[in-house]
Amino acid sequence: MCGIVGYLGNQSSKDILLDGLKELEYRGYDSAGITVLKDSNFSIYKSVGKLNNLVEKSKNLSVDGFSVGIGHTRWATHGKPTESNAHPHIGEATHIVHNGIIENYQELKKELIAKGYRFSSQTDTEVIVHLFEENLKSSKDTFSAFNKTIFQLDGAYALLLIKKDEPEKIYFAKEGSPLILGTNRETGEQFFASSDSPLIGHVAEVIYLQDGEFGYVDGKNINLFNGAGDEVEQVYKKLPENREIAQKDGYRFFMEKEIYEQSQVVSDTIMGRALDSSIEFDEIDPTIFDGINEIKLCACGTSYHTALASSYLFERISKTRVSVEFGSEFRYKDPLLTKDTLFVSISQSGETADTLASLKMAKNAGLKTLAICNVDNSSIVRLSDYSILTRAGVEKGVASTKAFATQMVVLYMLSLYVAQIRNNIEKERLQKELHTIREIPNTLTVTSKLHEKIKRLSKRYLHGHGFFFIGRDIFYPLALEGALKLKEISYLHSEGYPAGEMKHGPIALADPELFTIALLPQNILYEKTKSNIEELGARDSTICVISPKSFELADDFIRTSSHSHYMLEFFEMMVVVQLLSMEVAIRLQNDVDMPRNLAKSVTVE
Ligand code: AGP
Ligand code: GLU
Repeated sequence: MCGIVGYLGNQSSKDILLDGLKELEYRGYDSAGITVLKDSNFSIYKSVGKLNNLVEKSKNLSVDGFSVGIGHTRWATHGKPTESNAHPHIGEATHIVHNGIIENYQELKKELIAKGYRFSSQTDTEVIVHLFEENLKSSKDTFSAFNKTIFQLDGAYALLLIKKDEPEKIYFAKEGSPLILGTNRETGEQFFASSDSPLIGHVAEVIYLQDGEFGYVDGKNINLFNGAGDEVEQVYKKLPENREIAQKDGYRFFMEKEIYEQSQVVSDTIMGRALDSSIEFDEIDPTIFDGINEIKLCACGTSYHTALASSYLFERISKTRVSVEFGSEFRYKDPLLTKDTLFVSISQSGETADTLASLKMAKNAGLKTLAICNVDNSSIVRLSDYSILTRAGVEKGVASTKAFATQMVVLYMLSLYVAQIRNNIEKERLQKELHTIREIPNTLTVTSKLHEKIKRLSKRYLHGHGFFFIGRDIFYPLALEGALKLKEISYLHSEGYPAGEMKHGPIALADPELFTIALLPQNILYEKTKSNIEELGARDSTICVISPKSFELADDFIRTSSHSHYMLEFFEMMVVVQLLSMEVAIRLQNDVDMPRNLAKSVTVE
């Protein structure tokens, strides 16, 4: 999720920037940098890894009197976490920091290179600074050039720009990524940050910039405009007093915050990949699928559930055979490995020992390897031939939520990508699937009506001798995921089952104290699943049905929206089971973010 800070004033801008970046560490990053501009002299420092490396590098810089400064913690999306890819990015006389993704960076980069600009990084961000300096040549003033530049950008950005010959100004723009602006009216100081916590203690109230807003500060005024170029009324809001609460952005737990973030982070995951009429992945070369007759997906826990869910999509959409492995099983089973198999590791942390060990086996057997991972430069990413980042930002809750959602979207897009390069999908079908993918972020928006309903309903599920989560087809892995979520944070026993399996034994457990959570989509095997639920109901199991269609027999019913595609039903029901497990755990007064016996990353066997 990375972070941005900016400062204009008479305190040491270096100290303000470094303290601010420290407050943003919780958002996760892989590299960092600052620039201080004083008397038209830039002092820039960048480092890979932890912030202490940057503190060490800049320790001899002392800043007295007035200056401006910008700082950044990077969560790499384009280009490895290296010093050259770290921000600030620089032009002849301009430095910038950027959070987000510039979707049209490749065409902009091509045009700029043709005009003679030289790039020193692999990032999308760097196009902004060269585009701005190109626009300066034909603009009447800096602000016009800045205005023109941001309107040429597609994608998401929170942007701060400083210019050598204007050492008293900071230009800013906000679209899709968060940016907050604060002024200390007594001292005339002006502050920027990606979230509240760096500003607490410096200002009492702030402006939460809205999408499309941009402008500049100069120590006297805030010059704020909207997309139409009109001056915007400056609406100030009070800051929270407590930094810990601020890091949770006001949510009760990081898990709750991360469930609510899913809509935004999935938008980031899709950006630059689900295009108007195709799927593109900058990070991989289509030739990795040459000669591949099987895709082997290997993971653990929640990541195993995305592997299993996506196996339905790969076989159905791209007509490619898929096998799915638990890392802990695969590494000891003397597997048959052939070079026509692509080995895909799926991991939020990129450090899970069982998955990493399995990857090493595949590499040793000469297989091509791909990582689907949330942390660039992690062990699994570094060891794989290729990697696709999920862009979920840091996930602090031990119970994985947004990592599952973003992995699922990447794998859905990858199944289409393989179908595309193998000509296994008609244009119309591809357009329908692309439309569905673009609809997913809306489907992930949590409504207060739904959350309130689940909060109230959860009081009935605090005891009993166990839970069945059931579903068919791709909703079976989602049932497994719902059961794992509940298990790991409520400590209540729950199992996920294919709905069709009930009659093969599990139904012996059915009674009023056995709670069945049934996933009943209307776009896939509705009638079959409905009759499985009725089997359980007939044996008096207490049943909670999640469906867009009413189900009279349900003891509890959570209505989801009617969608044109089962994958939209999948994501909407995913949010329901995530919220249900969280609300049950809250009622049981468990530690939702750090449940007993669990670690966020299982780096041991
Ligand atoms: C999921 O909620 C758990 N935290 C756990 O199952 C996790 O998914 C598993 O340990 C795999 O972790 P990884 O995705 O980082 O490899
Ligand atoms: N897309 C930019 C990069 O990869 C910014 C990433 C971020 O928001 O930190 O450098």
